[in-house]
Amino acid sequence: MVKIIENVGLSFDDVLLVPRKSDILSRKEIDTSTFFSRRIRINIPIVSAAMDTVTESSMAITMAREGGIGVIHRFIPPEKQAEEVARVKRAENVVIEKPATVSPEKTIREAKEIMKSLGISGLIVVDAEGRLLGILTRRDILFVDENMKVYECMTPRKNMIVAKSGISLEEAKEIFKKYKIEKLPLIDDQDRVKGLITCVDLLKREAYPNAARDSKGRLLVAAAIGVKESEVERARLLIEAGADALVIDVAHGHSTMCISMIKKLRKIYGDSIEIVAGNVATPEGVEELAAAGADAVKVGVGPGSVCTTRIVAGVGVPQLSAIINCSEAAEKMGIPIIADGGIRESGDIVKALAAGASSVMIGRLLAGTDESPGTVIIRNGRRYKMYRGMASVYAMLGREAKFREDLSEALVDVSEYSYYAEGVEAYVPYTGSASDIIKRLVAGLRSGMSYLGARKIEDLKKNAIFVRLTEAGLRESLPHDVETV
Ligand code: XMP
Repeated sequence: MVKIIENVGLSFDDVLLVPRKSDILSRKEIDTSTFFSRRIRINIPIVSAAMDTVTESSMAITMAREGGIGVIHRFIPPEKQAEEVARVKRAENVVIEKPATVSPEKTIREAKEIMKSLGISGLIVVDAEGRLLGILTRRDILFVDENMKVYECMTPRKNMIVAKSGISLEEAKEIFKKYKIEKLPLIDDQDRVKGLITCVDLLKREAYPNAARDSKGRLLVAAAIGVKESEVERARLLIEAGADALVIDVAHGHSTMCISMIKKLRKIYGDSIEIVAGNVATPEGVEELAAAGADAVKVGVGPGSVCTTRIVAGVGVPQLSAIINCSEAAEKMGIPIIADGGIRESGDIVKALAAGASSVMIGRLLAGTDESPGTVIIRNGRRYKMYRGMASVYAMLGREAKFREDLSEALVDVSEYSYYAEGVEAYVPYTGSASDIIKRLVAGLRSGMSYLGARKIEDLKKNAIFVRLTEAGLRESLPHDVETV
């Protein structure tokens, strides 16, 4: 028997949220933090898409500094993707665990070379057992003969300010303030060097008070993988590089291949890594991925701005309904869902979260920014950037060409790819800094939360009453009967 779901599938434009009584005095009272996955908390509910025109290290750094998280795409070789992850983790390394060291017998010339090659301004001087002997900074060697030895120029241990490893960043800040030093080595009971905190890194941390960080103060980052057997090795490299979460990123996540990849990773890594999987559009999908071990599930089949899955395959569920249906299953399974695709404005984020998502994944809105990969293109005097679906012809072609070195473009029959394409390539207007876009989206979110009397993201769902719109209602919602300037 053919089954027809009686309920109408709704999308963002089909509804509005009804205002609720609010006792919020200022939008500053609103807490936008949320769960990205079971154990990862982020400070704003925004995730950048795992697409090659959206998220590499530059976008992921900005996302995390603003309080969200970026998912580094998987359409580059594993080593390169791991390097992108490492770049994010290095961007604000508040506690440097393995600071660069030098032996006291080296010459100043050799020490300078080490500093230059690592791009740093100081070296910790240690003996053969790794015990602290002194510190050599750029200032110590400004006008000295390069043949002199390190021990002759360094600031010796007895004149140094140090701290025990495990010190809190607040305590470290007090020491920097009191002694007006720039570098604080961390030592153990045997005086062995266990880390270094620099004043510059602490200051960077203060510049982004809302940043999403790991327990060591480094920015959070996630990275995407596929479902083929070879992706287990990609996962290993990404974890080694410091990825906080792996995102199994496939068009049809409710599949045996995706489930088996979740199980495989769980078996290898236990609970030491967060696994996000998707995409799905049904409660059954959420339940099965969660039962297999997923720590969060991505919801969205075909709502994305450059997706043609619904046209090509005739498959999908309008995004608002998909989120509502999936969120019940996710709640039952104790994991959050990420609403992926179709966000065009901050109002859509409010609706997605009110429908039960814990965060939203965004592609197009971030694709025109400085932080997305690719250059600015001028067309008819206007500035644009490229944005493409990962199942578009040239995205698929580019991927093949990168991985199969024997494939020269001249030999490729593009039409073959066009049979399978489920995405398009597009130009999006150049929009400057991603951080401005995110700030604008968060301001809109705070506004929506205050209209619903929601101090926390979780309250949004509790307080949400959606009203269905007619076409007249939609017309009324947009600027009308005026000529906008
Ligand atoms: P937005 O609307 O933010 O959506 O641009 C981003 C999401 O779109 C998905 N995506 C695709 N879906 N064919 C699809 O059907 C594609 O080629 C494609 N590329 C990306 C993806 O989930 C992304 O996060």
